[in-house]
Amino acid sequence: DGQIITIPVVVHVVYNTAQQNISDAQVLSQIEVLNEDFRRTNSDANNKWSQAADIQVEFKLATIDPNGNPTNGITRTSTSVTSWSSNDNIKRSSRGGKDPWNTSEYLNMWVGNLGGGLLGYAQFPGGNASTDGVVMGTQFFGSSDKGSGFFLSAPFDKGRTTTHEVGHFLNLRHIWGDGGCGVDDFVSDTPNSDSPTSGCPGNKTTCGSLDMVENYMDYSDDACMNLFTQGQKNRMRAVLESGGARRSL
Ligand code: ARG
Ligand code: ZN
Ligand code: CA
Repeated sequence: DGQIITIPVVVHVVYNTAQQNISDAQVLSQIEVLNEDFRRTNSDANNKWSQAADIQVEFKLATIDPNGNPTNGITRTSTSVTSWSSNDNIKRSSRGGKDPWNTSEYLNMWVGNLGGGLLGYAQFPGGNASTDGVVMGTQFFGSSDKGSGFFLSAPFDKGRTTTHEVGHFLNLRHIWGDGGCGVDDFVSDTPNSDSPTSGCPGNKTTCGSLDMVENYMDYSDDACMNLFTQGQKNRMRAVLESGGARRSL
């Protein structure tokens, strides 16, 4: 096991309606979920899978902005754009979105109306610096377990979309490898699977073994998900430790 790694985060709230201009409390509820999930202090953690791991990564809203001024780590941008999809325009001020803060110093999170049933998307390590970070649909950012009056949409209202996207940001693939039984996620302690999971099936078996539907890198409902594995930890920490693509964070 290594040391705790703390990642500075900026959340860019990009809104077209008042409802999409979510409260600081809703943003904070998401940071809380991230910290619980990556430290395995989530209240729904259990002993079903012995390879479940504390990733020893923590997230902290930035306190200093790129100009050296104090900040709460949240930016707010009003836009005339009603829906973004995954074309990265939300990451560009010139397109009605919001330019990132230095992506080698901050994990940039954009929150806006994605439309089309898209919960979120992420950029893997090694991509273009100007678009680096994670994007979440407004009503999937934050947790209804940690406050009331939040703008959230069940069954994806427990903050696990952001946990999933940050998993991608730290180099994790989907648990089924985005293919059949012959396609891997490059993690040896996640059981082989041939398909994404929806809902929360108790005994989904594919490729001859029980699927880990509780893994954050599946597509199960938020309330179903509760772990990353030791193998996923090794993969994520490799990009954050010396020599890794995200060591500057
Ligand atoms: N579909 C999205 C992606 O592939 C996120 C899925 C998140 N699932 C959830 N239960 N919140 O990046
Ligand atoms: Zn994904
Ligand atoms: Ca695997």
